[in-house]
Amino acid sequence: MRSTPVLLLALLSGAAFAGKKAPKTDSSASPPPATTTAPATEAAPAGHTDEESTPGPADLVKFRQVAMGATGKHMKASMMMAKGRVPATPESMQAQAEGLHALALDLGTMFPAGTDAAAVPDTEALDAIWSDPTGFQDKVELYKTETGTLVEAAQQGDLEAWKAQLGQVGHSCGACHDTYRQGD
Ligand code: HEC
Repeated sequence: MRSTPVLLLALLSGAAFAGKKAPKTDSSASPPPATTTAPATEAAPAGHTDEESTPGPADLVKFRQVAMGATGKHMKASMMMAKGRVPATPESMQAQAEGLHALALDLGTMFPAGTDAAAVPDTEALDAIWSDPTGFQDKVELYKTETGTLVEAAQQGDLEAWKAQLGQVGHSCGACHDTYRQGD
């Protein structure tokens, strides 16, 4: 792994991942360009059920970005505990670890064919996800395992073991981002 110490430092300094986004436009802060679909806040008109049953690529990308954003928040909350800024209670450690693990279990489903940058320019997912599916799946599996171990450490309530495992989880984020996400 090429950037292990840097990654761990970034984690321990609380920079985590949310700040590492490529400078893409935040669609919530500016009006969407005319070519995009309606914002998610607009309820679908009654009767338009056929459109709901076939999600478009833009929504599939948005969904995984939201899920990854939630992952980033769980990681940040965990880092606040790890650094002692808030109490690391067993309940809080478990809640954040379970959130990470639950989203990890679903991650493998979030990159269907047809959701690459050619289809949705806004995505940070790199083509390697689809050209090297085995390698990508390996990173998903590693991440599932590491977050599962984090849940176990949280359940055991051993603060030092949990902190060490949080570092391992951070490595597994970076291991995937290094190869499969633009900008890392
Ligand atoms: C198996 C691969 C993989 C793993 C593991 C992974 N990510 Fe990601 N992550 C991605 C990809 C790919 C994207 C880009 C998604 C897109 O733009 O379509 C991404 C995007 C993100 C984003 C930006 C979301 C947004 O709003 O656009 C954040 C934040 C993030 N990841 C945090 C994390 C954290 C924190 C972890 C570990 C706790 C993690 N990721 C683990 C692949 C992964």
